[in-house]
Amino acid sequence: MHFLSPLLENYISDNSEAEPPLLTELTRETHLKVIQPRMITGHFQGRVLSLLSKLIAPKNILEIGTYTGYSAICLAEGLQKGGELHTIEINEELHQMQRKYFDKSGFGKQIIQHTGDALDIIPSLDICFDLVFIDAQKVNYDAYFEAVIQKTKSGSTILSDNVLWSGKVVEPVAKSDKATAALLEYNAKLKNDERVETVLLPIRDGLTLSRVL
Ligand SMILES: C[S@@+](CC[C@H](N)C(=O)[O-])C[C@H]1O[C@@H](n2cnc3c(N)ncnc32)[C@H](O)[C@@H]1O
Repeated sequence: MHFLSPLLENYISDNSEAEPPLLTELTRETHLKVIQPRMITGHFQGRVLSLLSKLIAPKNILEIGTYTGYSAICLAEGLQKGGELHTIEINEELHQMQRKYFDKSGFGKQIIQHTGDALDIIPSLDICFDLVFIDAQKVNYDAYFEAVIQKTKSGSTILSDNVLWSGKVVEPVAKSDKATAALLEYNAKLKNDERVETVLLPIRDGLTLSRVL
């Protein structure tokens, strides 16, 4: 679902930072070779992630849901010198393509790929993260959040993607629709959770910005 008219969406993109050519190439290859290319972070949201990361200047970033690596590269653009981005992906077939683009981006040495279920991997990471991007299975958002908040400190930022779920969060929910039900609970929980302050931004499919208190 487009929340804004295509005309306004184009206007917004045209008046924001341009997409780096490498990310245009990555998007093209994703559409040609990988299933569900609509999962990729696009130009506008990618530049939002990049700028947020530059404003935060994180030493350590955690991403849950790498896919082909688009958002990882955007977030890595804000890393401090010598900082690291850890990204977790359950589908091992994507590993090689991610690595190709991470190396081309210039952040290859700073991006560490983990293959497996994020819920198994997060507890094994002995790192305090300044910035976390949650972008994997919607039914597990609450579990990811609970796992990662233990790996943050006061002032850390947790971003959660697709929280408007194509607008389904304001429509009647079918009994079989577990993802929308989970996101409704997750969005309400973040608003009331006293460990974070939260705003839900209507960026693309909805991006929640939570600051750990
Ligand atoms: C929406 S895509 C991520 C898009 C990516 N962040 C980007 O912007 O290009 C979600 C990814 O999460 C992965 N995923 C799903 N469940 C997962 C899990 N339990 N642990 C790690 N990755 C998972 C999927 O295989 C998929 O590649």
